[in-house]
Amino acid sequence: MMNVHHGDTEARRKLGQISALLLTNIGQLLTLHSDREGPRRGASLSELGIIEDAAVLCLGGKIVSVGKTKDALRDPWLKKNRKKITEIDCRGRVVLPGFVDSHTHPVFAHPRLTDFEKRIAGASYEEIAEAGGGIRASIEGVRNSGKAALTEKVLTRLRAMAAHGTTTVEAKSGYGLSFESEVKSLEAIRGAARRWAGTVVPTFLGAHTVPSEFRGRPQEYVDMICSEMMPAVAKRKLAAFADVFCDRGAFSAEEAEQIFEAAAANGLALRAHMGQLGETRLEPFLRHRPASLDHMDYVNDADLAALSRSETITTFVPGANYFLGLTRYPAARTLIEAGAAVALATDYNPGSSPTLNMQMAMSLACTHMKMAPAEAIAAATINGAWALRLADRKGSIEPGKDADVAMFDVKDYREIAYWFGGNRCVLTVLNGVVSGKEPG
Ligand code: NIG
Ligand code: FE
Repeated sequence: MMNVHHGDTEARRKLGQISALLLTNIGQLLTLHSDREGPRRGASLSELGIIEDAAVLCLGGKIVSVGKTKDALRDPWLKKNRKKITEIDCRGRVVLPGFVDSHTHPVFAHPRLTDFEKRIAGASYEEIAEAGGGIRASIEGVRNSGKAALTEKVLTRLRAMAAHGTTTVEAKSGYGLSFESEVKSLEAIRGAARRWAGTVVPTFLGAHTVPSEFRGRPQEYVDMICSEMMPAVAKRKLAAFADVFCDRGAFSAEEAEQIFEAAAANGLALRAHMGQLGETRLEPFLRHRPASLDHMDYVNDADLAALSRSETITTFVPGANYFLGLTRYPAARTLIEAGAAVALATDYNPGSSPTLNMQMAMSLACTHMKMAPAEAIAAATINGAWALRLADRKGSIEPGKDADVAMFDVKDYREIAYWFGGNRCVLTVLNGVVSGKEPG
């Protein structure tokens, strides 16, 4: 089994603290059920499996039944046990699977406000990085932070994510970039995950950039990642995935392949930052069967067919395009129409995307990438689950899956992407644990 952190839910389940939960009077329940196998592609990306006037019953942190409210209330077992069940009247609101945010960088100490001002004054992301800003500007903060302080920061961020409807989070290291500080970052993720009811998928991103002490000697840093950091991270079960930032100014395709090979040799699954600043040919990477390639602002037409045939998810992170002030966004329509399986994530980080709000990522995908609201929902839930190889447990509301749901104070699911910049989520259920204000 992958090194996925299921938080405090196992302990709570043993203590019997995860109660039976019944959600009734759901105006639109987006089950995301589909009869098709595999991640959603093409037309199936907009199939939401909507049930109106719906109810969901959860027991022991799992979904046990899904249907119409009137049928649920007639059920003999439910009638007999109703007193033991926590019941939430959703009063016509919209309920969907908790968002799966499959790309975040939550282990950092400070916002990068100088970079922000420089960009406003006209400098590009790459110019800022070359002048000493960028990822390197976040390293000192992490190296100088204690593990407990970092853990608290990550936990605060996970809680804020849950308040915005996210129940599963992929969390990367990548601002420590030394053996000690990468391990510390991954331990902070694990420590925070243990105190959070949702599910956290940890990713080792030692290959985020070359730290200053290795400047001009990238191969030596890559060798250290592969021969020292990766084996230690795997042995301590600190990560499920390894990631690499393969782009201009970061790691070359050759270096990224070395990272992929070492990760696979150490039993870590693969994902990568690709095509954010410039184009990298994807074919050699697809052979390694990465779970996901992320950003993908630049994709060569010649790679489209291979990408579409593959199980690899293309994860768009339009928060980064927005925050870097780019006019160009990923070509979502081209990829969807070619048959690629696409997901949406926040890329929450202090340099290029300081938002943890999946509703905002959906709004950007709709307005700037011409994804339909229904496509954005599927990309933010079930296809995010595929991007983390957790689709057997996450991303849809179906009997047997984890009880991860989010309720929004809207009548129509399209409003979630429409009311941009705010938070319409009023309640989340994370592995059966209710969080947030109960709607009045
Ligand atoms: O996904 N592209 C690389 N990593 C981040 C940016 C990290 C940073 O600037 O701190 C991203 O956009
Ligand atoms: Fe990122």
